[in-house]
Amino acid sequence: IYSDASSASKEVAAEIASLIRKRNEEGQATVLGLATGSTPTQVYAELVRLHKEEGLTFENVITFNLDEYFPIQPNSLQSYVRFMNEHLFNHIDIPEEQVHIPDGTLDQEEVPKYCREYEQKIRETGGIDIQLLGIGRTGHIGFNEPGSRPNSRTRMITLDRITRKDAASDFFGEEYVPRRAITMGVGTIMDADRVIMMAWGEGKAPIIREAVEGEIREHVPATYLQEHKNATVILDEAAAEKLT
Ligand code: F6R
Repeated sequence: IYSDASSASKEVAAEIASLIRKRNEEGQATVLGLATGSTPTQVYAELVRLHKEEGLTFENVITFNLDEYFPIQPNSLQSYVRFMNEHLFNHIDIPEEQVHIPDGTLDQEEVPKYCREYEQKIRETGGIDIQLLGIGRTGHIGFNEPGSRPNSRTRMITLDRITRKDAASDFFGEEYVPRRAITMGVGTIMDADRVIMMAWGEGKAPIIREAVEGEIREHVPATYLQEHKNATVILDEAAAEKLT
């Protein structure tokens, strides 16, 4: 628990940077699982600063984003491709072919095969070293909404009503929020060597209490992380205020 999101985000960025530097020295790649939304923006800002001011290179970093709305065009305002470019990729030296974000432009019939290949690509890199997560008010991680099974893999899902409400302002109205998304599964996330889930602000306090102290159940997918071998929940004081 940190006094504010800014200091917490710097710590998270420092952990990522330290792994990247170590792997660079060993001549190895670093595989990052990345989230979008308001939660990780300060982590990305700090990584950009470390690149520009402290010589941190992303030449040997491979990234996999958690999710993307479906359908969506990559250049649309709300797409996660655009989000990642604006917050991180446009400002660092990561080669384009090392960036992976689920494709929101596919025909529906192509999605199952695409999702299997996404999983395959993660496996081929040796697996995710550090997975960053936010948490939705429904308890979703990625877009694994209530009802998601612990062994679920990358797939198309239907967004929860609350998630669509929370995205309404980004889309200028709930009716314009896509009903579906492609997301890594709970099983995909659980396979990461290390998981860092972050949450800021009092709006997240009730779901953080459920996620951290509640019984493990599919109604709150973030509770599955209680069984992860190396997961840390990073909070500001407001998000932590309902923990006992
Ligand atoms: C985003 C994602 C979601 C968000 C969650 C919290 O890629 O996977 O699980 O992390 O909806 O969103 P914010 O950070 O906007 O509160």
